[in-house]
Amino acid sequence: METALPSLAIIGGTGKEGAGLALRWAHKGYPVIIGSRDAERAAQKAAELNAQLGIQSVRGMVNAEAAAAAQIIVLSVPYTAHAETIAAIKAAAQGKLLIDVTVPINAADYRTVYVPEGKSACVEAQALLGDSVKVVAAFQNVSAVHLKKLDHNIDCDVLVCGDDADAKAQVIALIEAIGMRGIDAGALMNAVAVEALTPVLLYINGRYKVKGAGIRITGLPLSDHA
Ligand SMILES: NC(=O)c1ccc[n+]([C@@H]2O[C@H](COP(=O)([O-])OP(=O)(O)OC[C@H]3O[C@@H](n4cnc5c(N)ncnc54)[C@H](OP(=O)(O)O)[C@@H]3O)[C@@H](O)[C@H]2O)c1
Repeated sequence: METALPSLAIIGGTGKEGAGLALRWAHKGYPVIIGSRDAERAAQKAAELNAQLGIQSVRGMVNAEAAAAAQIIVLSVPYTAHAETIAAIKAAAQGKLLIDVTVPINAADYRTVYVPEGKSACVEAQALLGDSVKVVAAFQNVSAVHLKKLDHNIDCDVLVCGDDADAKAQVIALIEAIGMRGIDAGALMNAVAVEALTPVLLYINGRYKVKGAGIRITGLPLSDHA
């Protein structure tokens, strides 16, 4: 018997990165709920994705309802909105897996690494949410430019950090489902380095006039997604 695919709430799913992930997972049959601060915006983005994919399964809800309705939560908001968004979904997130995509960025100098007070957005999320939530870091180095082009293979590995091995394995399966290689990159504290790579990639984008520079880890056996 086939196991049902887990439902995913994309908090901040009206934005560039969240909508790109939502598109990719919905395309592969995952039940996706777009979360927004505004129910109308969530519904509009869900309708847009359904129209693009020729499906009707994507739903839109305000963030707390989306987090409550899904089995797995994906958090993809600007760092400036990170703590307030976590407060809005904290009750609904208890006991669940939360994938944090957020990158601390200093808007005044987004091409230089910015280390926040709690060292990493993901580490801060874990502290704010409490131990019953399994926070896993992923996708910080994957540009939305690639995610939105469905016919396009994404030339980027996804480093996965977290303190729970089962949660990381679930996230790696979600990454592989959308055609990328997920690599176990250790403890949640290692998200400090993964998040910090993003401003480096943004610098490289500007310096070499490209969009969506990414990363590859060498020295690993090649998988189907490499
Ligand atoms: N874009 C990329 O290529 C990329 C790549 C890797 C990682 N990331 C990271 O992923 C996260 C999301 O990036 P993004 O490019 O998708 O961001 P975005 O488009 O600017 O925003 C994502 C969503 O966050 C929500 N949000 C909640 N509070 C907000 C506030 N105070 N101000 C503005 N928006 C707010 C908005 O949804 P509602 O208004 O509907 O609530 C918005 O649509 C960021 O932390 C970013 O650093 C982005």
